[in-house]
Amino acid sequence: MYEQFFEMTHTPFTRDVPPEALYESPAMRDALGRLAYVADRQLFAVVTADAGCGKSTLIRKFASSLPKEKYILLYLSDSKLTPRWFYRGCLDQLGLEARFYRGDAKRQLQKEIEIVRGIQHKYVVCILDEAHLLEKEMLEEFRFLLNYRFDSMSPMALVLAGQTELWENKLRLQRYAAIRQRIDINCVLPHLDRSETEQYIKSHLSYAGCSRDIFSDKALDEVFKVTTGIPRMINRICEKSLMYSFQQQKRIIDDYMVKYVAEHEMLA
Ligand SMILES: Nc1ncnc2c1ncn2[C@@H]1O[C@H](COP(=O)(O)OP(=O)(O)OP(=O)(O)O)[C@@H](O)[C@H]1O
Ligand SMILES: [Mg+2]
Repeated sequence: MYEQFFEMTHTPFTRDVPPEALYESPAMRDALGRLAYVADRQLFAVVTADAGCGKSTLIRKFASSLPKEKYILLYLSDSKLTPRWFYRGCLDQLGLEARFYRGDAKRQLQKEIEIVRGIQHKYVVCILDEAHLLEKEMLEEFRFLLNYRFDSMSPMALVLAGQTELWENKLRLQRYAAIRQRIDINCVLPHLDRSETEQYIKSHLSYAGCSRDIFSDKALDEVFKVTTGIPRMINRICEKSLMYSFQQQKRIIDDYMVKYVAEHEMLA
């Protein structure tokens, strides 16, 4: 709707921005480098961030950067994941039908991973998104999975991505000490700061084919204040501000307009 008015070729603040056009904050760049290392060395990593701060987006970008001839990516995002469904999900993505019993399915997966490594010369990278929702039983299972061959080698790279409470309510607790001690890399995606928020907005506008500044400096201050630098919130307020600006037939968005939108159109 407003795209024509602002002479845009794409809608700027959508979820389906292609991986190469995503904004790379310094924290994201750092996390991507560390995850590449995790994949290469077959390590265990945990990625945490507040809701809407870009975990799934980071994973999407990371997945698209992994060379297909070297890695096989398994991606699971199921809050109700039990060990049995974990093995079934992994085997399914490897093109195999899982055996019925959990112990059998686990051995089947381990054997398949050995084949992938030994014959196809590829590494398996397993990513679990929404990991803050996983039950104790599933988190415990990773411990046994990582205990493979009496801790002497790691069968796959494992990345758990979840909201900050994955640390606060789970991994930090004493009962998860055995898992916590096995974590090789811990990445945290913070909220964007004021200058990153500006760059984030500009990168989305430039993806949309719009090179001029639509948001005034004060408007950018206001967006940062309202969203505290959470990308999902930035997307929402910018989208609604563009809409409002179009309705008012104004080509520049100022801080009053952002304030109006924040007060009248943002639910949370
Ligand atoms: N680096 C980025 N570049 C472009 N867009 C981004 C970036 N990070 C986040 N976003 C946008 O912000 C939205 C929220 O990001 P994402 O879904 O990755 O957050 P999350 O941390 O996985 O949230 P949740 O905890 O709710 O699962 C996405 O829809 C995406 O459009
Ligand atoms: Mg997510």
